[in-house]
Amino acid sequence: MALIEWREEFRIGIDAVDHEHQQLIELINRAHKSIEVDAPRDVVELFLGEIFSKIAAHFALEESVMRRSNYDQYLEHKQDHEALLDDILDIITEFDGGGFDHMSEKLSHRLRDWFVGHFKSKDARLHNLLGVF
Ligand SMILES: [Fe+2]
Ligand SMILES: [Fe+2]
Repeated sequence: MALIEWREEFRIGIDAVDHEHQQLIELINRAHKSIEVDAPRDVVELFLGEIFSKIAAHFALEESVMRRSNYDQYLEHKQDHEALLDDILDIITEFDGGGFDHMSEKLSHRLRDWFVGHFKSKDARLHNLLGVF
């Protein structure tokens, strides 16, 4: 079963963002699957690197839009982004240090809950308020 199932309630109503969120979910699901099937280390490593860079790029885009629009909750939103990127870096560091144990639980606990919660609260507010990108 996929780690994160796309649900209609995640939809923000701006196609480009919904599409990017769907792609991120898909990537996380594929990474999770690779861990579940005991894929070779380098495959999992590539997935983790890709997750980090794609999510970082998505956040950078949101943050530049917020700055341009003088968005009132810029700092809180950015802090939330930074907390997740720190979490992903922790997972990567741990994995590089040799840890493979409980990787799928770590990904699911930290990424799924965070991601789903962030979409529904912070991203939904941002995109609804600005109505752009
Ligand atoms: Fe987002
Ligand atoms: Fe966000």
